[in-house]
Amino acid sequence: MSEKLVIGNWKMNGRTGRNADLIAALKALPAVCRDGVGVAPPAAYLGQLGAALAGTPLALCAQDVSRFAGDGAYTGEVSAAMLADLGVRYVLVGHSERRQYFGEDNTVLADKLEACRQSGLTPVLCVGETLAEREAGAALTVIRSQLSVLEAYAGRALVVAYEPVWAIGTGKVAETGQIEEIHQEIKKWLLQCGRGADNIRVLYGGSVKADNAEAIFSVPGVDGALVGGASLDAETFKSICNAA
Ligand code: G3P
Repeated sequence: MSEKLVIGNWKMNGRTGRNADLIAALKALPAVCRDGVGVAPPAAYLGQLGAALAGTPLALCAQDVSRFAGDGAYTGEVSAAMLADLGVRYVLVGHSERRQYFGEDNTVLADKLEACRQSGLTPVLCVGETLAEREAGAALTVIRSQLSVLEAYAGRALVVAYEPVWAIGTGKVAETGQIEEIHQEIKKWLLQCGRGADNIRVLYGGSVKADNAEAIFSVPGVDGALVGGASLDAETFKSICNAA
């Protein structure tokens, strides 16, 4: 498996001045400004970060993409072609917060995956169960259903991120045994659907912090991390990237 991938998901955080300070700090850290690390600002700031990261190995990532390819009458949308134009490399697709707040389902996500493929972007398909689903013993069923959107995905470029919803923003990181079980199941599913040889990295996300990153990265099947809150602080994000 290739080197681990660490992506900082800024979520809906940022202002031009603060972004400039954070990006300048990240660019000065060799542990962060290197291949295998990316940052995903809000779409409003992709232009700012694209310019700031141009020529550096730190990858520009997007938190979402329109399901509609090409240009047209889709007010408010940002197309995959626009993301590619801005220098975006990875795109989060199906983050749990978009599934929760914007009703994104496999029909919508299939379009987003195809839009990424057409523009040469690497989608990071986010999957994960809610606490209620886990407590009902349905975690694997839910995740397999979420993965099934890949059956129609014609692209080869792909990253998967397992983010148990109950671990996102809660400080309650999943136990290493739970992480290993799901990551191994995801890899088994990818193998069974003919993608096992594609060297697809499976990231973990959900309360990754400086003090738990090393243990998470040591779990078999964990190929990196999708980091939320901790990615907004340069030194904390550096510690996580150092552990990868
Ligand atoms: O996409 C990563 C995010 O959902 C995890 O958030 O704050 O728990 O690291 P956080």
